[in-house]
Amino acid sequence: MLSALKSALNQSLAPIGIAVTRVDSHGWNDVANFIPFEQTMKKARTARMSIGDYVDTVMNGAPGMTQNTINNMASVGVFSKPMGTVVEIGPGTGRYLEKTLKAARPPRYEIYETAAPWSAYLVKEYNVISQPTNGYALTDTPDSSADMVQAHKVFSGVPFMATCCYWHEMSRVIGAGGWAVFDVVTERCLTGDALRIWAESGIRNGSYPSLVPREVAVSFFSGKGFTLAGSFIVPMPPGATELLVFKRAG
Ligand SMILES: C[S@@+](CC[C@H](N)C(=O)[O-])C[C@H]1O[C@@H](n2cnc3c(N)ncnc32)[C@H](O)[C@@H]1O
Repeated sequence: MLSALKSALNQSLAPIGIAVTRVDSHGWNDVANFIPFEQTMKKARTARMSIGDYVDTVMNGAPGMTQNTINNMASVGVFSKPMGTVVEIGPGTGRYLEKTLKAARPPRYEIYETAAPWSAYLVKEYNVISQPTNGYALTDTPDSSADMVQAHKVFSGVPFMATCCYWHEMSRVIGAGGWAVFDVVTERCLTGDALRIWAESGIRNGSYPSLVPREVAVSFFSGKGFTLAGSFIVPMPPGATELLVFKRAG
């Protein structure tokens, strides 16, 4: 009864971009709200894990996956020079943010995050700057001011227009010698049994997973003066995504 009512309400509200949903639930069709804050923090505490380890180990079944990505970034030189400003889009629980702060020690770390409880937590916990977020733009970050902009497991989930707009913004704010680091689900992630696994995953009706041809990303950033410094297939259960690390000529 309740679910029929919700479905009917959502059908009529859809044209004005509003949806009714339980505040303590998270569905694959709601990429802007992320996982519920209170419940996830509580589960991590109960498991006696940091929130980052909880997301890696329990939610993704891939212990150490965040550190592996940081190691991959380090292997192509991302942390070889000091950074002044790092910007992160969609940090969520902050699992990459925490490790980036340790690896790079930037004096300024800005976040653009649509899920308010998580951005408030990150500001309190790590003293980062939460910028007003409209879901498409890095409006409060000046041109050529960032040494790195990163987004992990964000462009593999949001609709294409968000990715497309953020790429232009990354190019605007990253200075000479800076880095653009993000993952997208490319054709390299869709080999073998991948399509069957996604089809059987039960995920329906949302933008996740969002696909981007690899060549489109490489040629866009090449056209803006970046070279591909490295690429890595990383787990994104039940499948995979491709981390692309671009460096702008310095
Ligand atoms: C799948 S989660 C990944 C979180 C984190 N980067 C990680 O890998 O653990 C996607 C994150 O992006 C945020 N998000 C979704 N759409 C966004 C948008 N248009 N702009 C900024 N953040 C967004 C979500 O709230 C969530 O925190």
